[in-house]
Amino acid sequence: MPKIQITAKGIKSALKKYTPYLSIAEYIWNGFDAQASEIKIDYVSDKLGNLESFTIADNGYGIDHAKLQEKFEPLFESKKALENKLKKNQSAIHGKNGIGRLTFFCFARNAAWKTVFAKDGSNFYYDIYANSENINLYTGVSAVPRKTQLPTGTEVTFSGIHGLTGFGLQEKLSEFLLKEFAWFLALNSGRNFSILINGEPLAWESLIAEKEQSQIMHEKSQTVFNLTYVRWNEKSSNEASRYYYIDETQHEKWKEATAIKSKGEQFYHSVFVQSPYFNSFAFKKSAAQENQQPLLAGTRSDSQFRFLQKNLANLLRIKRRPFLKAFAQDLAAEYTQKNVIATDLHEKLAITIQTLYEIQPRLFASQNLEQKKFLANTLNLLLHSNQLGQLTSVIHSIVELNPEEKAELEELFNDKAE
Ligand SMILES: Nc1ncnc2c1ncn2[C@@H]1O[C@H](COP(=O)(O)OP(=O)(O)O)[C@@H](O)[C@H]1O
Ligand SMILES: [Mg+2]
Repeated sequence: MPKIQITAKGIKSALKKYTPYLSIAEYIWNGFDAQASEIKIDYVSDKLGNLESFTIADNGYGIDHAKLQEKFEPLFESKKALENKLKKNQSAIHGKNGIGRLTFFCFARNAAWKTVFAKDGSNFYYDIYANSENINLYTGVSAVPRKTQLPTGTEVTFSGIHGLTGFGLQEKLSEFLLKEFAWFLALNSGRNFSILINGEPLAWESLIAEKEQSQIMHEKSQTVFNLTYVRWNEKSSNEASRYYYIDETQHEKWKEATAIKSKGEQFYHSVFVQSPYFNSFAFKKSAAQENQQPLLAGTRSDSQFRFLQKNLANLLRIKRRPFLKAFAQDLAAEYTQKNVIATDLHEKLAITIQTLYEIQPRLFASQNLEQKKFLANTLNLLLHSNQLGQLTSVIHSIVELNPEEKAELEELFNDKAE
């Protein structure tokens, strides 16, 4: 039995932060990391809720026997960690700490992997076995893989289960997995990724609060972008709000943070942008990396990419607006409280400030008291003049207003002029 290069005690202390659900997520990620499109979680429990069997199976590429030792041995030096550093802008690889496979220890005594991998045109099958009493040991290296007709993939069976019951799983597993995987299943919905719990697909769409699909085209280059905006009911446990760029074959090419500076509002969103334009695109910025890109690849300075960015920013600005209402009210209250304008803050002025803040919070970002006074008093002057029509166009020159916003501002200003 080969030994993992760390003491059992060391492993157990590294595993302390894991709960059974976090552990289950690690096994699921191992499947997706191995390019699986389907993860099956199956369990059977008796009337008292005791788990009689519990397995997590994936249809990934399996664990090549020749590489088992290298993959299972060096703890904390997961190869994925290295790749991950290079690929923080891609979701395909989750593992990084090199201990996910051992986390079963927090809810089971034993874990057994049956894995099928492909080699030289045939599929081969073998078992790996580990138990929590000797967590630094595992079998499988001396196994002789046998030919099989089974498709590639890995199935982990847990036994001697202690921290989990059938009732608990029934009540909490879906909810937990939604927060961890809904964004990932949405990202890969074009490839039909799924997680099945006892045959039932995880209903990731139930976490969606709002979804909007649209298509935009950059006329000059005739580049079409398919946009899917999703707002989530709940915050993901592991993923921030991001843009994902997806190519023609529905594979994620890159992801990056949406430029929203959160003020603590519950605006949890993902924006998926799919286009053949991303089949070949130089996302990386450094000159050295750009040199390696094929000459025909698009770049961030292309007019079509800048067109896209502008559209995305505008989409989010509009979608975010309702979430800024409370902050806008606080801001107006603060202006009154701090005597930002000499007289009591006029109610109409307060509403104007609130509306402008909702449209573009950045207009009010990091101003000192003098600047605040200047802005508020200038607005106040305009509100009492007949120059208001022009204010709308000044604002429009800073933020791209949609027709509804334009009409709203005009109405607001007209009211004030009365
Ligand atoms: N279901 C699986 N399919 C394919 N390979 C796997 C699977 N589970 C584990 N492995 C292999 O074992 C290695 C160790 O897994 P793990 O302990 O979760 O660490 P990490 O995921 O951080 O690399 C993985 O990097 C991978 O090569
Ligand atoms: Mg892992």
